Amino acid sequence: MDRTTRSMIAGIGVAVPRKIITNYDLEKIVDTSDHWIVTRTGIKQRRVLEKGRSNVDLSEQAAREALDRAGLKPEQLEMILVGTITPDYPFPATACLLQARLGASKALAFDLSAGCTGFVYALTVADQFIRSGACQNALVIGVEVLSRIVDWEDRSTCVLFGDGAGAAVVTRTNSGRGILSFDLGSDGRGAELLMIPGGGSSFPTSRETVDQKLHYVKMNGNEIFKFAVRVVEENTLNLLKKAGFTPADLDFLFLHQANLRIIESARKRLKIPPERVPVNIDRYGNTSSAAIPLLIKEEMDAGRLLPGSLVAMVAFGAGLTWGGVLATW
Ligand code: UT7
Repeated sequence: MDRTTRSMIAGIGVAVPRKIITNYDLEKIVDTSDHWIVTRTGIKQRRVLEKGRSNVDLSEQAAREALDRAGLKPEQLEMILVGTITPDYPFPATACLLQARLGASKALAFDLSAGCTGFVYALTVADQFIRSGACQNALVIGVEVLSRIVDWEDRSTCVLFGDGAGAAVVTRTNSGRGILSFDLGSDGRGAELLMIPGGGSSFPTSRETVDQKLHYVKMNGNEIFKFAVRVVEENTLNLLKKAGFTPADLDFLFLHQANLRIIESARKRLKIPPERVPVNIDRYGNTSSAAIPLLIKEEMDAGRLLPGSLVAMVAFGAGLTWGGVLATW
């Protein structure tokens, strides 16, 4: 029996807002159509957070469910990592707000900004802390409230994104299950392909930055698309190779949900059958760092993701960043 010390996801929780915005609703706001959105992206609807609620509200809901499922109490957490680009405030970190909400008195807490790769980056950091012996139990969250940073007059972005949160309790194990390999990367030369230009130290918020709408997401969709198709295949193959596997060995590839055409292209290049590459972009849109835990939770609840399954979690996004984690579930 393999007794290597590893970290494993012991519980998953999710939270999505109740409010649904369909493509038909968007047709009334911007010059778009259900047909364009479905054929170009695969998205039919997305969730949008109600006024008065924020990132930490979704994070807390997902975290409590993940803790329940893992059978752990907040006081047993030693670290809280929140992968997000839509924190409650520029600072302090949403992870600290969450630490207080949960009463996780023994946990260090910080946010991690890696765009849509946030969950995978954060999971890898938690894995390092756990395997090094620095900590036993970590809470990793991927959460976004993208509806608050998109320009609802810009049809090229506002149709794409949705709000949601996914939480994973990660814990040390010698059971033979857990994380087998990771493969993370970045290429900052593509930083301007997907960004919010305003509100930081380059262009501090001013009347001018607001008039120029610099506080909203700007994206070069075509370039990100090309990057994504290339990097997902490379990243998945590297990840598998590091642990001595091939795509045919995978029970599940949990892929970032940015565009159904990206998912399908990667799936076909890797020659993985559709039932092993779950999709929920039709119902949630691109929820950035929340997308992968949302997918995992659905497969668990459906009874398809079982202990012992070989799973890859692969994402890409702003930075540019990309990353994958391979685990025995
Ligand atoms: O999570 C990581 C970050 N994001 C991504 O991974 C996104 C990656 N990129 C994409 O998913 C795709 O590039 C998009 C869905 C964003 C765009 O699809 P596309 O097939 O690359 O379309 P396009 O940008 O080349 O635009 C084609 C046409 C343009 O019209 P013209 O110039 O051909 O007349 C756009 O103005 O579609 C137009 N268009 C729209 N039409 C109706 C762009 N957005 C819309 C819209 N409704 N919402």
